[in-house]
Amino acid sequence: MLRKDKIVYQIYPKSFQDSDHDGWGDIRGVISRLDYLQELGINYIWFNPMIVSPQKDNGYDVKDYRNFDPRYGTMEDFEELVREAKKRGIDIMFDMVFNHTSTEHEWFQRALKGETKYKNYYIWRKGKGPGVPPNNWQSKFAGSAWEYVEQFDEYYLHLFDVSQADLDWTNPDVRQECADIVNYWRAKGVHGFRFDVINLISKSSFEDDPNNFDGRQFYTDGPKEHEYLKGLNRASFGQDPEHLTVGEMSSTTIENCVQYAGEDAEELDMVFSFHHLKVDYKNKMKWELQAADFMELKELLTKWQLGMQEKNAWNALFWNCHDQPRSVSRFGDDKEYRKESAKMLGSMIHMLRGTPYIYQGEEFGMTNAYFTDISEYVDVESTNIYDVLLNEGKSKEEVLHILQERSRDNARTPMQWDDSENGGFSDVTPWIRSQANYREINAANDRRDPDSIFAFYQKMIQLRKTMPIIQEGLFEPILEDHEKVFAYKRVLDRECLIAVNNFFREETEVRLPEDVKGYSVLLSNYDRKDAEQTVTLKPYETLVLYKA
Ligand code: GLC
Repeated sequence: MLRKDKIVYQIYPKSFQDSDHDGWGDIRGVISRLDYLQELGINYIWFNPMIVSPQKDNGYDVKDYRNFDPRYGTMEDFEELVREAKKRGIDIMFDMVFNHTSTEHEWFQRALKGETKYKNYYIWRKGKGPGVPPNNWQSKFAGSAWEYVEQFDEYYLHLFDVSQADLDWTNPDVRQECADIVNYWRAKGVHGFRFDVINLISKSSFEDDPNNFDGRQFYTDGPKEHEYLKGLNRASFGQDPEHLTVGEMSSTTIENCVQYAGEDAEELDMVFSFHHLKVDYKNKMKWELQAADFMELKELLTKWQLGMQEKNAWNALFWNCHDQPRSVSRFGDDKEYRKESAKMLGSMIHMLRGTPYIYQGEEFGMTNAYFTDISEYVDVESTNIYDVLLNEGKSKEEVLHILQERSRDNARTPMQWDDSENGGFSDVTPWIRSQANYREINAANDRRDPDSIFAFYQKMIQLRKTMPIIQEGLFEPILEDHEKVFAYKRVLDRECLIAVNNFFREETEVRLPEDVKGYSVLLSNYDRKDAEQTVTLKPYETLVLYKA
């Protein structure tokens, strides 16, 4: 059964801690930082893939599902990590990338050699004519989603990079392989699994996208999704009463997610959905900038809270991950009110109904990288789109500005532990540049402040672990028309919690829907000791009130 007191911390291993002086984070580096995570109070670590990969997409292009890339360490290192984490009450969640493999994976290589068994692991189609792919679908990383292979006179599908070939889930052998991989890691002591873009595995048909878009309507939340997930659950993690699973759901719907993460659905425990992280996309286009539409943000978060709650389904709660720019730069103010807005954003997420995820560095307010030259970017999506946007006629400055706001590398720079070289991540040049601001913004500096962001996160985590209302309470929106404030209640029997968050740098007045005399202050980022029904919120203020 899903434990609702969990808090997951996401480690991007390549950038967390280097222990062997190669500029690349590793397992032993993580072990050396477990005390820090224990102090923070989290009880799960989700690791991005550390297995063998050509690293075209930083591990999401899997070459071998069962072995670590030696740059991360050995199986013995990992076994030690599991033991050391366990001692500190921390479990491990692994990333399972099952929509595609690297084209360097043995299966794809054997397919190319003409072994029918393995050719059938992937999705092949004839072109429409010489040089014309089977349909007009676009890869999520730019360009056609199909790649021609001369010896077969056929194309294989790759929804992501050309080196990431989509697996054919209609093939029962593929489904069995995936279950076996989960079971392999279960035997190594892994109880948690995050399933990468798992709602793309069932393709409905291969026709042209009539809107000349990327084709997602034909491969998102497809007809056999629920059947495949139930099957995977039964054949693997579902046999482990301790399991914790989350599906990354691309462009999904509430209708599907109440099933994916419904209490009795026997699919997954919870889902990541991304609609709230597109409110600053102009016309829904990732590479078109606009200021975040705050009312839309409120509306979406409310809709997902209510929609999932109504059907007893569970959300993963998050602002940040390795694919998103840093929330404090995006929805807060990463200069004058960095500390206040980092705490407010944390509080807004952590008091909601669902399981909160913290992305490395968020707990002391790391910002976007703001790289100024294309040579500093590593991410394949960023470097591809750079060329595409230049070809479309945008100036270099314009494109670099877009990347500063949107690139995934904003979140992938080395963890800033202290003010030593490269923020204490590594004493040699890291695989990706450290941010310019590490001497000022780092974990050690933050923690010297008695009023640190870290301490605020510790407090939120403790509250969730100890208060059933935060774990279980029902969500109820309040002040829905307020243009500056996101506010809600959580209710459990006679207990009530009221959370009020000012998303702007201006002071703003709110009149709460009820008298709050009997309430105490549970959380405040301004040392507020009590509150009245009418409150003037300071810039980026968060205030959480509670009545037993
Ligand atoms: C997911 C991962 C992302 C990766 C993509 C393809 O969205 O989070 O980093 O590039 O899937 O595997």
